[in-house]
Amino acid sequence: MKELDYKKIPNGFLWGASTSAFQVEGAYREDGKGLSIADIRSFRKSKEQLDTKVTVDHYHHWQEDIGLMKELGLKSYRFSISWPRIFPNGDEKEPNKAGLNFYHQLIDALLENNIEPIVTMYHFDQPYGLIEKYGGWVSRDAIKDFVKYAECLLDEFGDKVRYWLTINEQAVLVVAPDMLGIDLNLPDKKRYEQAFQANYHMWLAQAEVFKMCQTRFPNSKIGPAVSYITTLPASRKSFDVMAAKDLEDFYSFAQMEVALKGKIPIYFENELKKLDITIEQYSGDQELLLSGRANCLGVNWYCTTIVEAKSTNDTEQFIFRRIERIRDNDLRYTNWGWNFDPIGLRYGLRQLLNRYADIPILITECGWSEEEELIDGKVHDVRRIEYLDKHIEQMALAIQDGVNVISFNPWSFIDILSVGDGMEKRYGMVYVDRSNFEERSMKRYKKDSFEFYKKVIKANS
Ligand code: BG6
Repeated sequence: MKELDYKKIPNGFLWGASTSAFQVEGAYREDGKGLSIADIRSFRKSKEQLDTKVTVDHYHHWQEDIGLMKELGLKSYRFSISWPRIFPNGDEKEPNKAGLNFYHQLIDALLENNIEPIVTMYHFDQPYGLIEKYGGWVSRDAIKDFVKYAECLLDEFGDKVRYWLTINEQAVLVVAPDMLGIDLNLPDKKRYEQAFQANYHMWLAQAEVFKMCQTRFPNSKIGPAVSYITTLPASRKSFDVMAAKDLEDFYSFAQMEVALKGKIPIYFENELKKLDITIEQYSGDQELLLSGRANCLGVNWYCTTIVEAKSTNDTEQFIFRRIERIRDNDLRYTNWGWNFDPIGLRYGLRQLLNRYADIPILITECGWSEEEELIDGKVHDVRRIEYLDKHIEQMALAIQDGVNVISFNPWSFIDILSVGDGMEKRYGMVYVDRSNFEERSMKRYKKDSFEFYKKVIKANS
């Protein structure tokens, strides 16, 4: 029998790296950019940690940053376009030319360096103007404004960009609804009602955009970037196994089902009934979901989550209320509670193979966070290297198993402003000399993981 070669990665594989606009660009008011909910949310914590105003100033360092990408040997770069750089309030008739120019320059430079742009249209940064105007995604009006924005991106960049991601981690927006501009002090039922209505509108909006993109650019690939939390039961008892399945289905697979199959799963609707909430739907919506479907899948994968059922037979409670997350002391954790469980990635990818056969999968995020210090110009990020090494190995095994992974984009290319934890929590393969409150030199330093990943890319293994 032929031996499995776990090192074998298909030729043309897109070895990449990932970031998002508000987490790296800074220049929060420059060249006409408007404010986003991500800005507003970060300003609420300005006294405790870094906010979005400057971050790692990629807006002014993009040439240098692309130089580093080239040196690293990247074949792809996944980044997001800042929605309020293009439509500062979200509802302007004409897009902001300066914003478009910035991304034209960036995309052109990537292409000149043979780096395939993988572009996220919306990564947590809806223009705040739309939230003030009609409550953002909670309102059905948000659909037309997102579609108009996406259409503008396709007009401008459709002949340069082959890979598009519509919405980043919709499920995260639902569980942290202040990222949608929803008031966290609302009573539970009201808050969930708004969050799931917003989630529904995002489904409709992305369906329109999938359709538009595939009609206009038949060679393009477009899909959502789903937060896939592979969920494992704390024990082999069937009630724990069922609880894990319920959570994974509700949180991750429902998002994939709607994007790829165009249907809202019944198990998802059943959970909403437990909250006694009804989503406002109109005739024609179901047809739209069916007619606008993704032709690739972006997967953000960091770790597994381990859960147990709070009771052996309670199925009446809403899923988030009837499970408990468990810490497995045999696993290593980041300081922020994310485990190191690489086999979980292979297992998760195999589940995707079972569900979606050979749909092209882009791993759009995968990464390890640490508090780090620069010592003599070096950062010895050994744990990140181990994380990358083991996850790449498991991804390669999944590819051998038949999973159609076409791209791997670790989070993150460069140190970013973490969504939850400011600048202390670093993810990058490139270190940026700044702290939460001091801008320092903003100089870029290659961490040890940069050198490691460079070798992986070069060897394609
Ligand atoms: C993903 C997001 O949820 O997780 C990223 O797409 C984010 O934007 C990443 O940075 C890590 O989360 P955090 O809170 O550590 O920044």
